[in-house]
Amino acid sequence: MTAPVVTAALELRGVNAGYGRVQVLYDINLVLPPRGVVALLGPNGAGKSTLLRVASGRTVPSSGQVLLRGNDVTGRSPERLARVGLCSVPEGRGVFPNLTVSDNLRMWTFRPGVRRKDVEETAYGRFPRLAERRRQLAGRLSGGEQQMLAMSRALTADPDVLLLDEISMGLAPVVVAELFALVRQIADDGTPVLLVEQFARTALEVADEVAVLSQGRIRLHGAPDQVRDGVLATYLHAEGSA
Ligand SMILES: Nc1ncnc2c1ncn2[C@@H]1O[C@H](COP(=O)(O)OP(=O)(O)OP(=O)(O)O)[C@@H](O)[C@H]1O
Ligand SMILES: [Mg+2]
Repeated sequence: MTAPVVTAALELRGVNAGYGRVQVLYDINLVLPPRGVVALLGPNGAGKSTLLRVASGRTVPSSGQVLLRGNDVTGRSPERLARVGLCSVPEGRGVFPNLTVSDNLRMWTFRPGVRRKDVEETAYGRFPRLAERRRQLAGRLSGGEQQMLAMSRALTADPDVLLLDEISMGLAPVVVAELFALVRQIADDGTPVLLVEQFARTALEVADEVAVLSQGRIRLHGAPDQVRDGVLATYLHAEGSA
């Protein structure tokens, strides 16, 4: 009997990438399985955001491949990838500061057949605070509220693959806990999540697999229990406590 072939939701194969002549990523091989959360950890400047940029089509690798459900999508634009189910919340929240909450939500109805009314209902149902502020400019929301708005994309676009870059940045621990409970729920509902996280302990708690990137290479990869000691020993942002 042969083992069933499980097609990865997303796969980076032998990816090299950078900016101009500066190489940032070296021979990256990473698989996001069809279910669960993969967390990407690593020090500042390691290349985590660049890896997500490659995965979401915002940076084209100099060599290697990006596969979405087994299809080679290397070089496809972020818009095209969004239309086939890849949703990316980039670093810095990715909201349009000069648009209202309501208009921000409207901007994210990329997928055919998604209605603005449903999008708003889903978002406001999850985050009542956004409903109260629907006519407010997104740039005037608090950090946590902006992140809720950014996360609403994840819910409303009903993506097949979700990429999140440091959603906990600058937020109070209680808000971070709420957001990660939501990430877990999204994953448990069947959407695989690749997330970059600054806090190692948070990542080890929420993720099914952890990869550690340093100087553009994946140094460590495995289940949280397998990598925990290595991660906490070497990682620079172990939440200030040993
Ligand atoms: N647009 C750009 N042009 C040139 N170099 C860039 C650009 N964006 C990032 N870099 C460089 O690429 C390297 C990796 O950056 P990247 O943003 O991927 O790191 P990171 O792991 O996400 O770091 P952080 O934890 O600080 O967000 C850094 O040395 C950075 O200076
Ligand atoms: Mg980054």
